[in-house]
Parts: sequence; C-alpha cells; structure tokens
Amino acid sequence: MNPINHVAIIMDGNGRWGMKYKNSRNAGHKAGLKTVEKIIKETIKNNIKFLTLYAFSTENWKRPKKEINYLFNLLENFLINRIDELDKQNIKLKIIGNKQFSKSLNKLLIYSEKKTKNNKKLQINLALNYGSKIELVNAFKSIIKNKEVINIKNFTKHLQTKNIPDPDILIRTGDTNRLSNFLLWQIAYSEIFFEKKLWPAFNEKDYNKIIKKFKRIKRNFGGI
Ligand code: FPP
Repeated sequence: MNPINHVAIIMDGNGRWGMKYKNSRNAGHKAGLKTVEKIIKETIKNNIKFLTLYAFSTENWKRPKKEINYLFNLLENFLINRIDELDKQNIKLKIIGNKQFSKSLNKLLIYSEKKTKNNKKLQINLALNYGSKIELVNAFKSIIKNKEVINIKNFTKHLQTKNIPDPDILIRTGDTNRLSNFLLWQIAYSEIFFEKKLWPAFNEKDYNKIIKKFKRIKRNFGGI
C-alpha cells in the first residue's frame, strides 16, 4: 500500500456553493473554511505529515475587491482565533506565495509561522498569493544569480516548497478538471483526483475515499 506524506488541495467551488444555498459567494467562503477545519483533523487522523491548501492564487486578485477583502478577513480572524490551538496540536503553518498583503495580515502571517515553526505533527502549507509560474521564474532567477549548476536537485532547492516532499495526492473539488497554476513542478508524479463536489460540501468521507483509492494505485514513476 502506498504511503502518503503529502496531500495538496485546490479548494474550488465556494462561490457556486454560496450562490446556490445562500445567494452569496462570501457565504460559500465561510462554509469553505469549515471544510478546511474538517480536512485538517482528518489529515492528522490519517497521520499525513504535509497538507497544502490553495487559498488564494496570483490570479485571484482579478476578483471584486469586496470578495478579496472578505477572504482576507476570514483568514485573519481564523488565525487570530485558532493559531494557539493549532500550535497546541503541534501543527506547523507555512505560507507559500508572496506575502504582499495589508501590514496587519503580513505581520500575523509571519507571527503564525514563527510561533509554529518547530511543530512536528502536521505541516500546513497555505498557498496565498501563490502562482506556480512566478515561483518557477523566481527559482530560475535565483539559481542563475547564485551561479549554481542547473539540475533538478539544485533547482528544487530554489522553489518555495524546498524541504517539502512532492505531493502524493492532488485533489481538486468543484467539478473542474484543470490545475490553475498550482504546484506545476511539484505534481509531476502526483495522483490527481478531480472531485465533483463543491468544496463546502466535501467531507471526511469523500477525503477518506480518495485516500483509500490512492493506497491501492500501482505507482511506478515511469518504470513498470
Ligand atoms: C475557490 O472557490 C476558493 C477560493 C479562491 C478561496 C479558498 C478559501 C477558503 C476555502 C476559505 C478560507 C480559507 C482559509 C484557510 C482562511 P471559488 O470561489 O473560485 O468557487 P467558484 O469556482 O464556485 O467560483
């Protein structure tokens, strides 16, 4: 059975769920946060060490300002209310993406990373203002600037995911089969699961079904 070190998730479908059930996209984001909490718990139960969540992409800035503000307020409140508890649960929080937010959110993100940096139970990588293409461009720039040999091993060290194993599983909810500029280098050999359910409707049972399916897959990484 395949071991699982790392699950990455594109949490898609909040807006559609919110419109359908509450006539508000933001209500969908609020409900999406509840799913985040459920999935964190279930990840710990499954003894998985890394969980990467795509919370805001470099392209999401195109959304209406009201929605963007709502999302960042949600995140800010979540961290203010839950960071101590996450820390107590031995969870490490790492931000991938460019921290170019309000002063207060930047400060809170740095504080949360610092507070939890030695935790070992689970590492949550929160992808915020993250885009895989810009990550790759920056990695190239950095390796060239350092005059390092360009090979796969060195290159990987210049990504924001350095020291994080590549995802074994990539899940995208929301009935859309695309990668949306997420971890394009890192998912070279991930098993990808496209899930019809919208993120707020996704639950522990759906997650465990995917994990069970993954464990049975024959992974040969190009071999036979
Ligand atoms: C995609 O759904 C979801 C997002 C862009 C935001 C993800 C945010 C959360 C799950 C809640 C907040 C999380 C944290 C960690 C505080 P969409 O809005 O693109 O859905 P749609 O395709 O139906 O429009």
